[in-house]
Amino acid sequence: MKATKTPKKNDTTKISLGRVHPRLDATSDAPVKLILPVLYILGAVLIWNTQAEIAASTEKIEYISPIAEFAARNIFATYLIIAGIAVTILILTPIGKRSVQDQLKSIGLINHSDAVPELKSKRKDKKNPRIAIWEFTSQGIPLKVWKDKKEAIETALDITIVKMKNGSGKSRVLIHAVPAVSDLPEMIKWKDKFLSKQSFMLNLGESFTGPVTVDLARVPHILLGGATGSGKSVLLKLLLMQANKKGANVCIADFKGGVDFPPVWHKECRMCFEEQSTLELLTELTEELERRKALLKASGLPNIDHYNAATGENLQRYIFACDELAEMLDKTGLTKDQKEIVAKIESRLSVIARQGRAFGIHLILATQRPDSTILNGQIKNNINCRICGRADNVLSMIILDNTDAADQIPEDAQGRFLLHDGTIFQAYWFDDTGGI
Ligand SMILES: Nc1ncnc2c1ncn2[C@@H]1O[C@H](COP(=O)(O)OP(=O)(O)O)[C@@H](O)[C@H]1O
Ligand SMILES: [Mg+2]
Repeated sequence: MKATKTPKKNDTTKISLGRVHPRLDATSDAPVKLILPVLYILGAVLIWNTQAEIAASTEKIEYISPIAEFAARNIFATYLIIAGIAVTILILTPIGKRSVQDQLKSIGLINHSDAVPELKSKRKDKKNPRIAIWEFTSQGIPLKVWKDKKEAIETALDITIVKMKNGSGKSRVLIHAVPAVSDLPEMIKWKDKFLSKQSFMLNLGESFTGPVTVDLARVPHILLGGATGSGKSVLLKLLLMQANKKGANVCIADFKGGVDFPPVWHKECRMCFEEQSTLELLTELTEELERRKALLKASGLPNIDHYNAATGENLQRYIFACDELAEMLDKTGLTKDQKEIVAKIESRLSVIARQGRAFGIHLILATQRPDSTILNGQIKNNINCRICGRADNVLSMIILDNTDAADQIPEDAQGRFLLHDGTIFQAYWFDDTGGI
């Protein structure tokens, strides 16, 4: 999964605070510089054509220095050399280099001897023309310090940083960025051709650097958070639809009676609407997990993909999804018996979270409630793929262990999510009314 980040809706604030020099520009300055060689050639043509007149007009001048005289009498060669050097320097010097340095100094990005990183170049990313790559000398400032100052750098340079890394050793820092005013589309419709051919890769949406995917064979479980209306259910169904198309057994616990899931889901997937049937389902899944464990142990193979390839069998993946975790795991107001059932549900979920990967049994758990008691540490710590949509500080903390989703996702955003690695993406909009 690639790291990127999108601008915030409060970019206007960011711009008014940070935009201080009009020559700073988040895009590559290559197009502006293309004009320099053109001007150079035009100048050469002009001087070539008027050489004789210039020579005649300088004929009678008395030169104090023989070099000046030589230059005047060989005006064309002099132009080629001097203008050539000037053009080369201008091309090699990034536009706004000084003001970039001033900005970095103003936010305290300096080393022990007060030296400021120097902008060496600014160019388009070949893989993604929307992104400009700013290459700086690191001046011995570790990448971590740059990352800690990411927000300040964004404000100072009026950019949205997509990625920061070292380039050619630690002496250079590369910042991949888009202009702060740019944004991801508000809606990207899902198309069946997006379905990954790779097993078991699911497509989440698009970031500035391209599609965002999660490979359940490597990152087996997903925790999905976001306030009501942030687009959780749509994203959850997008993932389940892909898993279903790839031949997984999709099981859904929805304690809201399945209203979010049109009839086609009830036909294609196993649905549970209350605790008892959910517990039965999870018990079956943990038994299947144990059965597969024994199979793999006996065959000496590490996971179901290897097992299927070696034996020609087709052990399918199971996905257990819950659209509102709090509805399923909240014990407040329950009878003793109900509490016991919920405790058992929790313990089955823990087993799957800890061991499910090799055996192809996965969890996709969604929640909107900012209640840290809902999800126990055992389950949460074993879910490596965390995604959070629009959220308050508390919910963002629960899902991502930081407040980034609250800080970075605009209040009115729908389908905009932040991945645990800092990637912001627009989830594909998926309409299930016509089927899945
Ligand atoms: N990926 C998306 N792109 C654009 N709009 C979306 C997207 N996902 C959801 N929405 C909009 O947000 C509304 C709420 O989405 P939903 O998934 O029901 O939110 P939640 O489950 O978080 O309450 C949807 O009806 C739709 O209009
Ligand atoms: Mg919902």
